[in-house]
Amino acid sequence: MVRVTFVDVHGVEQAVAGEGDLSLMELAKANGIDGIAADCGGACSCATCLVHVDPAWVDRTGAPDDVEYAMLDMVSDVAGDTSRLACQIRLTPALDGLRVVVAQQ
Ligand code: FES
Repeated sequence: MVRVTFVDVHGVEQAVAGEGDLSLMELAKANGIDGIAADCGGACSCATCLVHVDPAWVDRTGAPDDVEYAMLDMVSDVAGDTSRLACQIRLTPALDGLRVVVAQQ
């Protein structure tokens, strides 16, 4: 079980949990987190799953690969190296307790 706290686009905090092979985007969608549209279904081609990772967790979520980086380069609400596409973050036990803020779209 991996627990994640989302701060949605309205500033509302929601603590949710999931297990199995899930992305952060899939966990958000399964729990109806406002602001995660995920229009491309996780194909890294829409950027409507943009989140800002709590700086304390950036080391554990890792850096975007080249494809994700190219998508991030096209969106306006990028906040340095804390911005990630939620569909590109796999939930592992190391991310238990993760906190992210959903970006304004
Ligand atoms: S769901 Fe489309 S880029 Fe993440």
